[in-house]
Amino acid sequence: MTWHARGLGRLSARTFVVTGANSGIGFAAARALVERGGHVVLAVRDTGKGETAAARLDGPGTTSVVELDLADLDQVERCSRSLLAAGGDLSALICNAGVMGGPYLLSAQGYERQMATNHLGHAALIAGLWPRLHASGSRVVVMASTEARAGRLSSQTTREHLVDPTPYDGRQVYRDTKQANLLFAQELHRRCRAAGSPVSAVAVHPGASATNLFARQLAQAGHDRLASVSKLVTGMVLQSAAAGALSTLRALDDRTPSGAFIGPSALGQSRGRPKLLTVYPSGADPATAARLWVLTEEILQQRLPI
Ligand SMILES: NC(=O)c1ccc[n+]([C@@H]2O[C@H](COP(=O)([O-])OP(=O)(O)OC[C@H]3O[C@@H](n4cnc5c(N)ncnc54)[C@H](OP(=O)(O)O)[C@@H]3O)[C@@H](O)[C@H]2O)c1
Repeated sequence: MTWHARGLGRLSARTFVVTGANSGIGFAAARALVERGGHVVLAVRDTGKGETAAARLDGPGTTSVVELDLADLDQVERCSRSLLAAGGDLSALICNAGVMGGPYLLSAQGYERQMATNHLGHAALIAGLWPRLHASGSRVVVMASTEARAGRLSSQTTREHLVDPTPYDGRQVYRDTKQANLLFAQELHRRCRAAGSPVSAVAVHPGASATNLFARQLAQAGHDRLASVSKLVTGMVLQSAAAGALSTLRALDDRTPSGAFIGPSALGQSRGRPKLLTVYPSGADPATAARLWVLTEEILQQRLPI
């Protein structure tokens, strides 16, 4: 059955935290939620960009902006504390923000930046927000990618592979980060069910959507003109960010079961209406997921809550 965003119904009095909500798919998801009456907390690394984005979102829903730099674990902790202090029921945490490729850069704690941003920062945010997630029976939505299929994480993965991959292959590291996102969502789901926790977890991917993701990596490598061309071309050939955000929105539908994986249904999952997908073994292998969980705890130097 074709899924439509109207399946979400009215979202009045429901709160959603969306990471990276100032741009691309996160912004498109935030727009759809605000249009349905939800309150969206835009968790962004640049609050100026966040305020500008929030000003472009038309009600009936409401917005607020909170600073979140996923590539700095101290800042993630400050953000978690401020979100905990805000209190109230939290319908969902949407772990959307991400970076792709670009040069070898490090996070504030000296970890490879893509893994730090896409996986470690989000894992720390989930851990920091756990009391509110647990009390609310929240849904955690984690953004993966079709690239996750080519991830090389395994039950033998080492700490170094996650924080200091050598030699550096930015494309492969991106794939590994997205495999980590998919594995982490599956493991969170399994652990919540085993512990009887009311928290649910769903993984999504947006197909291939026209956002800043592709242009940004070119700009970071100093190819400004190529970045402009890329923005133009992706705008013509890829589906819109709003279409990509439908997977995220379907993940928020109460009828979507915990543990699901959602992505577009057409052209090799690159575009189209969102559907429930079968998770391929590399994205669901329990031994790899358990290894990732333990390594994540070791790197974050904190027990994950469940
Ligand atoms: N577009 C696609 O075809 C595609 C395909 C598969 C998966 N995805 C995934 O979709 C997600 C959203 O990407 P997008 O395509 O919408 O790209 P985008 O327009 O570049 O959005 C990425 C968002 O992540 C934020 N971000 C980057 N680093 C951050 C950090 N350290 N802390 C907090 N926020 C940070 C960005 O903030 P700034 O604006 O401040 O940089 C931006 O809001 C990513 O996880 C990406 O891997 C996208």
